[in-house]
Amino acid sequence: MIRVVIVGAGARGNRVFADLISRYDTGFAIAGVVEPLEVRRSAFQVQYGVPPERAFASLAEFLATPRFADIVFICTLDPTHYEICAAVSEAGYDVLLEKPIATTLPDCLALLEAERQCRNRIFVAHVLRYAPFIRRIKALVSSREYGAVRHVAIMENVGHWHFAHSYVRGNWRRADLCAPIILTKCSHDLDIIPWLVDDRVTAVSSVGSLAFFRSENAPDGAAERCVECALRDTCRYSATRFYLRDEAGWPYETIVPPPDSLDARREAIATGPYGRCVWRSDNDVCDNQTVLLEFASGIHATLGLHALTADNTRKVTVLLDDAEITGDLYRRRLRISPFTGVPYELDEREVDLPEVEDRHGGGDLGLLRALSEHLADGTHAEIMSSLQTSVLSHVLAFLAEDSRVGGGVRLPVSDAFVPERLVG
Ligand SMILES: NC(=O)c1ccc[n+]([C@@H]2O[C@H](COP(=O)([O-])OP(=O)(O)OC[C@H]3O[C@@H](n4cnc5c(N)ncnc54)[C@H](O)[C@@H]3O)[C@@H](O)[C@H]2O)c1
Repeated sequence: MIRVVIVGAGARGNRVFADLISRYDTGFAIAGVVEPLEVRRSAFQVQYGVPPERAFASLAEFLATPRFADIVFICTLDPTHYEICAAVSEAGYDVLLEKPIATTLPDCLALLEAERQCRNRIFVAHVLRYAPFIRRIKALVSSREYGAVRHVAIMENVGHWHFAHSYVRGNWRRADLCAPIILTKCSHDLDIIPWLVDDRVTAVSSVGSLAFFRSENAPDGAAERCVECALRDTCRYSATRFYLRDEAGWPYETIVPPPDSLDARREAIATGPYGRCVWRSDNDVCDNQTVLLEFASGIHATLGLHALTADNTRKVTVLLDDAEITGDLYRRRLRISPFTGVPYELDEREVDLPEVEDRHGGGDLGLLRALSEHLADGTHAEIMSSLQTSVLSHVLAFLAEDSRVGGGVRLPVSDAFVPERLVG
C-alpha cells in the first residue's frame, strides 16, 4: 500500500480522493491529513481512521513530523498550489497536485525546476486522461484503424448553474483572485487535445469575452442580492431557489464553512458572495471563449468554453481519414461513424463504456489506480499526467489568454515546451 497524506480535506481531498481510497482497491492507504478547519479535520479523522497525531492543522506541523507517508495529495485551492507543492517537494515527498499546477506560468515552471532539484515525482490531477471515455478515444486514435487525425473539437459545456456557482459567484470568478478561466476550467482540455493529436502545437489564438453575466443584462427589477429580489421565486439563477434546496454535498455545502445547514446557507446568501445577483457580481472571467490550436502537421483543433449550456459535460469530435468519432462525456455516449461513401447512409457504431460513478467519467478512480501502479512499477508511462507532460497545457492556456486579451492575435508556441519525443 502506498501511504497518502491528504492536504486540504475539502470537496476533492475528502469527498473524492479519500472517499474513493476508502471504498475501492486503489493501492493507496490514507495515512494522514492536513486541514486547518477543525471541524473538517476531525470529521476526516473519524471517517478514515486517522490517528490524532497524524492529523495536522498546518503544513508546517506535518513537515516537522518524521516521515510516515510516501505521497502527498495537494487538494487545496488554486492560489496555494505553488507554495505547498514547493515545500512538500523540498521535503522529498512525491506529489499528486490538483490542477491547475499554479496560477502563473513562472510558478508552474518553478515547480518543474523544484521537481528536477528535489528529485521527487509530481503528477497533476488531469483526471480526464484516465476516464474510460477519453481512454477509448485515445485507443481508437492510436490504433490508426481509421487513419490519421484530421481535426479535434472539444466543447467544454460548463452548464449555466455550475458557471453561476463557481465562475460568477465563487472562487474562480476573478482572474486576479485565481487565474483566467481558460486555465482553471480548461487545462484538462488543453492537456487532452495535444495528447490525442500526438503532434507539436505550433501556434495558439483565442477570442472570448464576458458577454452574458454583466450588469446591463440584469432583468428589470433585479436587486443586488437574491434575498431582497422581487424575482427570486422565478429567476433561473436565484440563490434562494438554488442553495436552499434540501440537498447535501457539492455545490450546495461549499457556500458555508462546516457544518452545513439550511440556516447557515440562509446566512451565507444574505451576506456572502453566493447570494449576489449573477448580473451584479464582481466576476470578470470569460463566459465564452474559443481557442484554436495549430499543429506542425498543418491540422488544427478547437476548444470552446461555454457557460450557457443546459448541462455540465464535454462534447468531443475527432475527425479521421476514414471515420468520425463523436461523444458526450456526461451521457457516456461514444460513437464511431466509418465513412460509407454513400449519400446519407450512416454506419454508426456505439462504443461500449463501463458504468462509472464519479463526476469525471470515472477519471478520478482511474487516476488513483493508474498512479499507484505507476509509482510501484512504472507502468502506464504513456498515459501519466506527470508535471513535465502537464506543463504544456498550462503554457497553452496562458498563451490563449494573452491572445484573447490581444484581440485574437496568433501566438507561436516555444519549442522549449514541445515534448522531447516530438522534437526533431
Ligand atoms: N481535477 C479536477 O477535475 C478538479 C475538479 C474540481 C476542483 N479541482 C481543484 O481541486 C482543488 C481543491 O478544490 P476543492 O473544491 O476541493 O476546494 P475546497 O475549498 O472544497 O477544499 C480545500 C480545502 O483546503 C483547506 N485548506 C486551505 N488552506 C490550506 C492549507 N494551507 N493547508 C491545508 N489545507 C488547506 C480548506 O480549509 C479546505 O477544506 C482546487 O485547486 C480546484 O481547482 C480539480
